[in-house]
Amino acid sequence: MDQISIIQPDDWHLHLRDHTALATTVPAAARGFGRGIVMPNLAPPVTTVAEASAYRDRILSYRPAGSNWEPLMVLYLTDNTSTEEIRSAANCGFIYGCKYYPAGATTNSDSGVTDLANIHAVLETMQELGMVLQLHGEVTDTDVDIFDREAVFIDRHLLGLAENFPKLKIVLEHITTRQAADFVTSATDNIAATITPQHLLYNRNHMLAGGIRPHLFCLPILKRNIHQRALLDVATSGNKKFFLGTDSAPHAQEHKESACGCAGCFSHPAAIELYAEVFEQAGALTELEAFASKNGPDFYGLPYNRSSITLRREPWQIPSAVPFNDSQIIPLAGGNSINWRLA
Ligand code: NCD
Ligand code: ZN
Repeated sequence: MDQISIIQPDDWHLHLRDHTALATTVPAAARGFGRGIVMPNLAPPVTTVAEASAYRDRILSYRPAGSNWEPLMVLYLTDNTSTEEIRSAANCGFIYGCKYYPAGATTNSDSGVTDLANIHAVLETMQELGMVLQLHGEVTDTDVDIFDREAVFIDRHLLGLAENFPKLKIVLEHITTRQAADFVTSATDNIAATITPQHLLYNRNHMLAGGIRPHLFCLPILKRNIHQRALLDVATSGNKKFFLGTDSAPHAQEHKESACGCAGCFSHPAAIELYAEVFEQAGALTELEAFASKNGPDFYGLPYNRSSITLRREPWQIPSAVPFNDSQIIPLAGGNSINWRLA
């Protein structure tokens, strides 16, 4: 096969940042994708419908001419989010979920929820309204090893959450472990997961063996190869519960290559091609369309995109750097040659 056409894919988890950064991130997010779930972890975070509306307008002002790419907005849950805000979010027509960050888990998550008990009424309202809860599924307890944070979150919090809110639509985001893949596989149909290109392409050896590679550092952190294998298996299985979410998360080069570097991989310059490469290596290119273009809209209750994209077998080099504000970003796999190319 030297060419494939699929329904235009969507990205169910991405970060755009704000203001002048949008000049880089919005065209990159719109490259190949029809829609994108925009994470609200700005500083300060997007916690109200009014803030989400203003942020959406700023994003749209950077959308390339002629593009129909659509930002799907998300509210950031805090200990103080009200059920009224959830109701107006569900009615506003441009908000597609609410994001739970455990306080302190990742970039700009200081205002996150300190205890799930604090948002009980909010979750009840979301369940009633059919609103999607996007979960950053890691505990932040300092006694829990960073490589175990996702598995411990499932045991300590997610099992109970799923039991207490049996109809709540939950996306366990950017899953990284066999435990998460197994949990989602055996859960009810209201629970799904997104998977990033970096967690399919790499394991922690790629990041740490023979020298530390800060551009592969993201959260949840890359795990052992057995976990990478489990993610590859579910992503390429055709199972409707798993879909594309790049978690493309730009940070300027100097903030990654630092004594205390930021977490996040910027994958948008070649995102769909990286997934195509992974699926081809797994002998499952025919499953790419379901994972990238169908399972996400089906879960969110949205129509498929009406246009399609074509990928050609045509080796090219992923840009080794992309301008970003006064600096630059090193993209995921930047400088590497890749076999598939978006036409
Ligand atoms: C994300 C970011 O930089 O905003 N970083 C990351 O490593 N994934 C935050 C997140 O999604 O955890
Ligand atoms: Zn993210």
